[in-house]
Amino acid sequence: MSARPLNVGLIGLGTVGSQVADRMLSWGSQLSRRAGVELCLKRVLVRELNKRRSVQIDPELLSTDPASVLDDPSIEVVIEVAGGDEPMRSYIEQAIQNGKHVITANKVVMAKHGPELLDLAAEKNVDVYFEAAVGGGIPLISAFRTDLQANRIERVSAVINGTTNYVLCRMASAGLAMRDAVREAQEAGYAEADPTDDVGGFDATYKLAILASIAYEIKVRPDGIYREGIEGIEPVDFRYARELGYAIKLIAHTQRHPGRIEARVHPAMIPIDHPLARVEGAENAVFVEGDLVGEVLLVGAGAGGRPTASAVVGDLIDLARSIRRGVQNRPSFSFDDRIGVVPIGEVKTRAYYRILAEDRPGVVAAVGQVFAEEGVSISSFIQKDAWSHDQTAELVVTTHPSLDASLQRARERMAQLEPVRAVSSFLRVF
Ligand SMILES: NC(=O)c1ccc[n+]([C@@H]2O[C@H](COP(=O)([O-])OP(=O)(O)OC[C@H]3O[C@@H](n4cnc5c(N)ncnc54)[C@H](OP(=O)(O)O)[C@@H]3O)[C@@H](O)[C@H]2O)c1
Repeated sequence: MSARPLNVGLIGLGTVGSQVADRMLSWGSQLSRRAGVELCLKRVLVRELNKRRSVQIDPELLSTDPASVLDDPSIEVVIEVAGGDEPMRSYIEQAIQNGKHVITANKVVMAKHGPELLDLAAEKNVDVYFEAAVGGGIPLISAFRTDLQANRIERVSAVINGTTNYVLCRMASAGLAMRDAVREAQEAGYAEADPTDDVGGFDATYKLAILASIAYEIKVRPDGIYREGIEGIEPVDFRYARELGYAIKLIAHTQRHPGRIEARVHPAMIPIDHPLARVEGAENAVFVEGDLVGEVLLVGAGAGGRPTASAVVGDLIDLARSIRRGVQNRPSFSFDDRIGVVPIGEVKTRAYYRILAEDRPGVVAAVGQVFAEEGVSISSFIQKDAWSHDQTAELVVTTHPSLDASLQRARERMAQLEPVRAVSSFLRVF
């Protein structure tokens, strides 16, 4: 074991940070043995010194001065588990500029600025580890960075947001309305007080940007990814999905096209026998297809202090080993920024529509005509529950693969038809 300890500065002592600190303090000798060097928690940056903490920590270690971590020459590794864009992007940049290695769980920073920070790190001959930024405790980044290196990654499909998966599972199993399922997720600690980031698909978009960037080694920005949240889904959609042989999931999907990639986040109907359809509760799962390995499924806890700390501290051990050996354990990235994302309108997909229409002759023909004029071929067309009290009926239509632009135009045109009250639901089908 190396004689000189490796000093670590921690930014953040919340859900994840307290578990990281706890592991380092209570399991130090085992971690140090695995790392081949003593790991020493030298300083912890927080906002409030006097806050009650869930970890027992020497108050002397705490500081509210960023320079006490970022400018301390004895600190070689900075672990950032505070979150949010600024000031954390600047802190990470400053740490790299000062020759420090960085480990972060920050998906926002890595999705928006990852390629630049990794380029800067390569220039400064330090490393940035970010296993915890996607999929909590599931070893994803290391899988791409090491185990799947021999592959050309063809596609990645994932259930990567535990909150929305919990909500959708509760809607499916208990017939809850979205509002009630979100409230339940908040009470169970799976959803934030403001659930917009999760429910709106933003969190999944950040994670997909990171996954797609490392899978293809290109710069994929969150704002280049098509995004739709789960807000429009109603309990009845789960009933129809089940009848048709599907589950409903928020899917983050990317796949390779000649000279471009596809990248999108939206709710989708997914065949009930697909592994992603069976992802339960707050779990995450990532389905990867490589040209050599074939299909690989990675499943586990996508969030939570302990699983996320597992990824952070795992990164620390790996990094510590390479620092002490003086070698870079893993290949650095080079990001091609000439490869673009296919606009959603050009993506070919199947779709499900739930249409509320007057129950009278000619409606089915009018709806069928719109699809025909848009060149969309229908896979199934079922008239559901006719309600005699207001003479309405629900039409459930699924299509064969078509251009998304045609599917959207069909949706808009059907909503304009005189006997159609509303196109109540539109979901893509995987
Ligand atoms: N929670 C999860 O399950 C999970 C899973 C995967 C990834 N992550 C990521 O991990 C990171 C941390 O998440 P978390 O859930 O642990 O957050 P959290 O519980 O809100 O904790 C944030 C910590 O950062 C500190 N902090 C925030 N802004 C700061 C600033 N400007 N200067 C100094 N300290 C600051 C806070 O200090 P005070 O305590 O003094 O307020 C707090 O200790 C985020 O990037 C998140 O996306 C979290």
